[in-house]
Parts: sequence; structure tokens; C-alpha cells
Amino acid sequence: MDDGSPLFLVLLGAPGAGKGTQARMLSEKWGIPQVSTGDIFRGNLESETELGLLAKQYMEKGELVPDEVTIGMVQERLSHSDCARGAILDGFPRNIPQARALDDILKEKGTSLRFVPYIKVSDEVLLARLSGRWICRQCGAVYHMLYNPPKVPGKCDICGGELYQRPDDRPEVAKNRLKVYFEQTAPLIEYYRQRGLLVEIDGEQEIEGVQVALEAAIKSHDCP
Ligand code: AP5
Ligand code: MG
Ligand code: ZN
Repeated sequence: MDDGSPLFLVLLGAPGAGKGTQARMLSEKWGIPQVSTGDIFRGNLESETELGLLAKQYMEKGELVPDEVTIGMVQERLSHSDCARGAILDGFPRNIPQARALDDILKEKGTSLRFVPYIKVSDEVLLARLSGRWICRQCGAVYHMLYNPPKVPGKCDICGGELYQRPDDRPEVAKNRLKVYFEQTAPLIEYYRQRGLLVEIDGEQEIEGVQVALEAAIKSHDCP
């Protein structure tokens, strides 16, 4: 970052808006970790930790994992040395108490959010994105059957790993995730707008176009 202070970036957006896709690209370019609460929960689920088993009960219904679990988990993750230069937060915060907790965590680090990109995508497009998503079991790369297909069906371009569909992308669960988003997460748009931090990004462009728009917003806010 220009002034040497760390860059903590929150990517705000609905399920399927492209937060994970964009966070991964930015993380690779800048060498700053992507901190995805959904990925951390899924990793724990896979290795059947206590946290994973707890999160599963909520994730399979498309509900939010309780704040007392999620906030502590993020605080711990952001204390690792790889976050000294910042992190790209994908899927956190997801309600007002989480946003306040993040403000406190960053304050303690002597920093704050410089701006908050909101990746805006209409409801019809979101469901189509979720239903066509395939993910690499090995490296986590994200594909879409129509918009970003792998070269060989069912196989990851990067590592050759097997692709799978998230159980919470099934239409019934995906619809509930969108409902939960509108009730609990969408109020963050106003929360950040009122603080003068919100920057809307058109999320319906192609993946590269969204990336260019995000990078322009980052540059105009004195980030790298
Ligand atoms: P999480 O994993 O965070 O899921 P989500 O927010 O529902 O978001 P998604 O991962 O579905 O969407 P995305 O925006 O990352 O889109 P992507 O880039 O993959 O959370 C899952 C669950 O964990 C929650 O329901 C909850 O239970 C729990 N949880 C997580 N965080 C929590 C928290 N903070 N508090 C409490 N509980 C929490 O893209 C989607 C698809 O579209 C892909 O196929 C991609 O290839 C494609 N695509 C992306 N961009 C474009 C584009 N520009 N054009 C065309 N296609 C595109
Ligand atoms: Mg994601
Ligand atoms: Zn892979």
C-alpha cells in the first residue's frame, strides 16, 4: 500500500455475486490472503472438526452460523502473520453486529476500511450463477458451467482435481440463502453508505470486467 499501512478489503455482495471469484484473483495479484468465512467453514466440515459439525447445521439450511462462533473465528484468522499486510474478506461481515466487530478488530490493529466495494447483481442472475457453479475439490477454483466452463468437463484447469457442486447451491437452500441475505446482510449496504464508504461495482459484467472495475476503485482510494 502506498503509505505502508495494511489493506483490509471487504467484498460485499449477495450469494453468487462473484465475491469468491474476485477475491481469489485479487489475492493472487497482491499476495494478500483471501479470508472466506464460507471456505473456512467448508474446510472444517470436510475434516469433521467440532466447528465444522456445528457450522453444518446452519449451512445446510442456508442460515447464518451464530455470531459468537463466526466473529471469534475471523478475529483469530486475522491475527495470523500472513494478514500483517491486510486481507480480502469474502463473506464477512454478514450482519450489523459482525460489521461492528470488524470495525473494532481493525481499530485494534490501528487501521480501518478505506472503502467497501459492493458487487451488485440482480436476483435472477444470482440464482443462475449458483445453479451452474462447480468447484475444484483440490484447489478451490470456481467454475461455471456456462459463464466460466473448465476446458475438460468435471476437471479443474489448474490442478486436474475433481469438480463438485456445493450442497447449499440446491435451489431450495439457495433461495433461503438469498432470503437471509436480504434480511440480514443487505442492511450493510446502508451501514457503509452512511459512513461514505460504499462503492457500487456492476457485477453483471464479465468476470474480467468486474475485476477491472474493482481495481480502478482500489486505485482511486489510494490502495496499491
Ligand atoms: P459463502 O460460502 O460465503 O456463500 P455466499 O455468500 O452465499 O456466497 P457464494 O460463495 O455463494 O457466492 P460468491 O459471491 O462467492 O460467488 P462466486 O464467486 O462463487 O457462505 C456459505 C454459508 O456459510 C452461509 O450460507 C452461512 O451458513 C455460512 N457463513 C459464511 N460466512 C458467514 C458469516 N460471516 N456469518 C455467518 N455464517 C456464515 O460466483 C458464483 C458463480 O458465478 C460461479 O460459478 C462463478 O464462476 C460465476 N461468476 C462469478 N462472477 C461472474 C461474472 N462476472 N459473470 C458470470 N459468472 C460469474
Ligand atoms: Mg463464495
Ligand atoms: Zn483445482
